[in-house]
Amino acid sequence: MRSVEVAVPGHPYPVLIGAGALARLESFLTGRVLVVADRAVPELPELSGIASPLLKVEGGEAAKTMRGVSRLLAAFEEERLGRDGTVVAVGGGTIGDLAGFAASIWLRGVALVQVPTTLLAMVDSAVGGKTGVNTARAKNAVGSFWQPRVVLADTRYLASLPAEQLAGGQAEVVKYAMALDPGIAGLTDLEEIVERCVRCKAEVVAKDEREEGLREVLNYGHTVGHAIEAASGYSLHHGRAVAAGMRAAVRISASLGLCQPSLVQAQDELLAAHGLPGRLPELTTEQVLAATSADKKSRAGRRRWVLLREMGRAELGFDVPDDIVRRAVTEILSS
Ligand SMILES: NC(=O)c1ccc[n+]([C@@H]2O[C@H](COP(=O)([O-])OP(=O)(O)OC[C@H]3O[C@@H](n4cnc5c(N)ncnc54)[C@H](O)[C@@H]3O)[C@@H](O)[C@H]2O)c1
Repeated sequence: MRSVEVAVPGHPYPVLIGAGALARLESFLTGRVLVVADRAVPELPELSGIASPLLKVEGGEAAKTMRGVSRLLAAFEEERLGRDGTVVAVGGGTIGDLAGFAASIWLRGVALVQVPTTLLAMVDSAVGGKTGVNTARAKNAVGSFWQPRVVLADTRYLASLPAEQLAGGQAEVVKYAMALDPGIAGLTDLEEIVERCVRCKAEVVAKDEREEGLREVLNYGHTVGHAIEAASGYSLHHGRAVAAGMRAAVRISASLGLCQPSLVQAQDELLAAHGLPGRLPELTTEQVLAATSADKKSRAGRRRWVLLREMGRAELGFDVPDDIVRRAVTEILSS
């Protein structure tokens, strides 16, 4: 079993990675326990062995709404989940974000165990404590920082994951390689990939839990990525949208002379090896630009871009002229 400590000041926690990590679940439970699980996820025996109510919910982006939160809160009330209770979120990023947010506001916060079941959730969303749901216009606009008590990344779940979802998760893996740790690009063993990505995320989150600066580096590719995702009405997989967003970001980086032009092709190839970004929905440059303005990460009305200096070195806080953004978006939508 691999283990990575997320040393968030005041509430550090472990991420246990490997086939069989779920066997450790019981030792992290307190009080009444409520399991919120994506109904598409196969039930592993360790989970069926826990004597607690199992709430099956529909996964996917459509789950991340305030209505979804209300339903969970009603179930917590019904099940008399007390302040010493534990919510166990079993699913991809959508269930982790939804159940995590509900746990963070129920009785002003109850313990949360994250059991990520997609590659994307294992390498990214289950770690770091961001939870939340979407509004009609913006992704993750309502949310909280709520660190889990433990993350159990049981890689057996990946066996049932559709290829499309695996590819989507690889987009975030490429993000870590491009933004923080180039060595990740050469790895093939999934457990090792999860561990290395989690190490990157843990290091960043421990230094900047609330995204006051450094943590923004994890948003490499997400400005245009979120915009494409929103403009597509969330029909496009988050990972594919981020892959497209990274293609825009590296082009902007090269246009500004921050990185070598050869990095554009290097990143394109890394993404293409996983079939990323794949076919994008029919969108115009204007639609994507309009959605980038709605991105919640702008400060004082200006977006702050995360851009690349070289492979493994992303930097924050760039102000990019509109024409350069426009050119990059047009290029990635047409190629
Ligand atoms: N909180 C964060 O820090 C953070 C970071 C990155 C992404 N996110 C969020 O994560 C979400 C995307 O996560 P995701 O890609 O895991 O999506 P997801 O939760 O929608 O899961 C993808 C699909 O796979 C199915 N599925 C999940 N596990 C399965 C398994 N083991 N076997 C078979 N099917 C399975 C789900 O039902 C769903 O249809 C987005 O909403 C994104 O905003 C959050």
